[in-house]
Amino acid sequence: MGIDPEFKTKRQKMPEQHSNHDVWGPVEPPNKLGIHGTVVAIDWDICNADGSCIPACPVSLIEWNNTPGNSLSDKKADPAREADCIFCMACQNVCPVQAIKVTAP
Ligand code: F3S
Ligand code: F3S
Ligand code: ZN
Repeated sequence: MGIDPEFKTKRQKMPEQHSNHDVWGPVEPPNKLGIHGTVVAIDWDICNADGSCIPACPVSLIEWNNTPGNSLSDKKADPAREADCIFCMACQNVCPVQAIKVTAP
């Protein structure tokens, strides 16, 4: 199952941001990492480091973030500069495990 499109109402925003974007819990490292981002939301508990989203983004806003010890993958796609998103939907369409949900603000 892919990312829950209703994560904003069903999950709690963590008190601390990660590189200028919100994180939606629960977060219990290393195996529960939550959803990173709001406009470009990437579920780190679904991302298996396929990597297709990174070159697909025309404005290169997604970057790798290391997640050592995570049983699914030791790195995750991070929406590092989600404010740059142009809503082309390429990342959402290319992810083979539906870990990404893009929502215009
Ligand atoms: Fe992860 Fe999907 Fe990107 S598995 S690395 S979010 S293409
Ligand atoms: Fe980039 Fe387009 Fe996604 S701008 S973050 S690939 S919606
Ligand atoms: Zn992040």
